[in-house]
Amino acid sequence: MAAPLKILFLSAEVVPFAKSGGLGDVGGALPKFLRALGHDVRVVLPAYRAIETDFYAGRGGYTARTEGLLVPVRGQGRPAGVLEGRLPGTDVPVYFIAERNLFDRPELYGYDDDVYRFAFYSRAALVLAEALDWRPDLIHAHDWHSAPAITWLATAGQASGFWRGVASLFTIHNLAHQGRAGWDLFSYLGLTTHGLAEEGYGAVNLMARGIYHATLVSTVSPTYAREIMTPAGGAGLDGLLRHRAYDVHGILNGLDYGVWNPATDRRLAARFDAARLEERAGNKRALQERAGLPARPSVPLVAMVSRLDWQKGLDLLGHVVHLLLNGGAGEAQFVVLGSGAAEYEGMLAQLAGYHRDRMAAFLTYDADLAQLIYGGSDLFLMPSRFEPCGLGQLIAMRYGSAPVVRATGGLVDTVQDGVSGFSFADYTTGAFWDALQRAIYVYNVDRPRWQGIQRTGMTADYSWGRAAQSYQQVYAWALARMRGG
Ligand code: ADP
Ligand code: GLC
Repeated sequence: MAAPLKILFLSAEVVPFAKSGGLGDVGGALPKFLRALGHDVRVVLPAYRAIETDFYAGRGGYTARTEGLLVPVRGQGRPAGVLEGRLPGTDVPVYFIAERNLFDRPELYGYDDDVYRFAFYSRAALVLAEALDWRPDLIHAHDWHSAPAITWLATAGQASGFWRGVASLFTIHNLAHQGRAGWDLFSYLGLTTHGLAEEGYGAVNLMARGIYHATLVSTVSPTYAREIMTPAGGAGLDGLLRHRAYDVHGILNGLDYGVWNPATDRRLAARFDAARLEERAGNKRALQERAGLPARPSVPLVAMVSRLDWQKGLDLLGHVVHLLLNGGAGEAQFVVLGSGAAEYEGMLAQLAGYHRDRMAAFLTYDADLAQLIYGGSDLFLMPSRFEPCGLGQLIAMRYGSAPVVRATGGLVDTVQDGVSGFSFADYTTGAFWDALQRAIYVYNVDRPRWQGIQRTGMTADYSWGRAAQSYQQVYAWALARMRGG
C-alpha cells in the first residue's frame, strides 16, 4: 500500500451536509474512499444555514471547537467559529467554518459577495490546519470556491515555514462557473501576484488561478479533459489548460454503491436488483401515482432529474418532450424533477399544463423523489450541451433506467449506445429525437434486448474504489513534483 498521506480536502459541497449537484456527491464520497485506502483526510466546508440550525437545535452530532479562528483578511483578523462533525459511517473529520454574516443564508450560492465568501472560507481552512497543528502533505481543492487556498499556498504560503513544500491538486468540476472578481480580492487575501492573460486588466478569475497555481490539475472524466483544451470546450481557459496539458488528468467520478443501491434503498417503494428486475414495477406504479399519471405498466415512462441550467440541454428538451407527448413515438409519459433558471421552470410548467394527463413537473429539489424517479422510470434523459462527468446517468443506470444522452464529456465515457443506453452526437432536436425514438422502439418491441441494456447498466462498475486509486496516483505525482522529481 502507498504511504498514508495527510490530505486537506476543500469542497463547497459535501453530501449529506450540502449539495446542489454532483459536486456534493463527489465531496461526500471521495474522502470516504481515500480514508479506506489508509489516508488521513480532513474535509472543510462552510457552516451553511442548515448546519448552524442543526447545531443550535442539538441535532446532527456537531461539536463546537472552543477556540475560534482569526482569519487574516483585509489586513485584520476576522473571527470565525469552527464546528466539527464526521462524514457518516467514517471517522473522517469534517470542519465547518462558521461566520453567520457570510454563510447563514438561505442558499449555498448566488450572492453578490460569493467570491469574498469563498475566499474567506478558503483562507480560514488554512488557518484552521495551522490551529490544529496538522500540516497536510497535499491540499485537494475543488472548483473555484476553494481555488483561493491554492493561490495562497503557491504565493504567500511558500514564504511560511508551515506551508512550504505542501503540494496541491485542483479538480475542475465545471468550467462554466469561474468565480470572477475585481483585483481587490487579492488585497482582501493580502496577496501580491501578477495578472494572468486570461483575467483581463484589473480582474481576477479564480478558476484560472486554480489551474495556474496548482501543482497538478484534474477534471472529472477523460473526455472532458480533452474537450476543455479546445476553444469550443475551454470556456476561455483552453490556452491556459493546453499550457499545462501534461499536468491535467481526467479521472472519471464514481458512485458510492454503499449509498446508491436499489436492493437496499429505503426511498424506493420496492427494492430490486438485476436478478429481480420485475420488482421495479412497484416503483413505476408509485411514481405514476405520485405524479398523478395513469398507472399504465407498459407505457414508456421517460424522466429527467437535473439542475435547470443552460448546460443541461433544456432548449432541446422542450421540443422533444412536446413531440413525445403528442404521440410521435406512440404513447409515453414524462416526469421531470428540477429547479433553477426561471425560463426553464416556466417552460416545463407550461408543457406540464398542456400535457396534463401525460406529464408532471416537480420544480423543486427533492432527494427522496429523485430516487423514486431513478428507480421507477424506464428512460432517463441527459441531452447536455456539455457534461464534465455527470452522475445522473450513472445513478439511472444503477437503478435500471436506460439513459438517453448527448455524447459529450463524461457521458461519452459512461454510456455506450445500444449497450448500456442510447446516445446522440449533434446538439440538435433532430438527433435527440432520433435517439429517443430508437430507445422507445427497443422498449416497445424488443423486451429481451431492453432488459439486457438495463442489466448492463445495473452491473457496470463505476465504483469510487477505482477512482480513489487514480487520485492516490496523482497525489503521488504531485508530491514528487514538489520534491523536484
Ligand atoms: P451537475 O453536478 O452538473 O448538477 P450531475 O449529473 O453530476 O450534474 O449531478 C447531479 C446530482 O444532483 C445527481 O445526484 C442528481 O440526482 C442531483 N439532482 C439534481 N437536481 C436535483 C433535484 N431537483 N432534486 C434532487 N436531486 C437533484
Ligand atoms: C459538475 C458537472 C457534472 C459532474 C459534477 C461532479 O457539477 O456539471 O458533470 O458530474 O460536477 O464532478
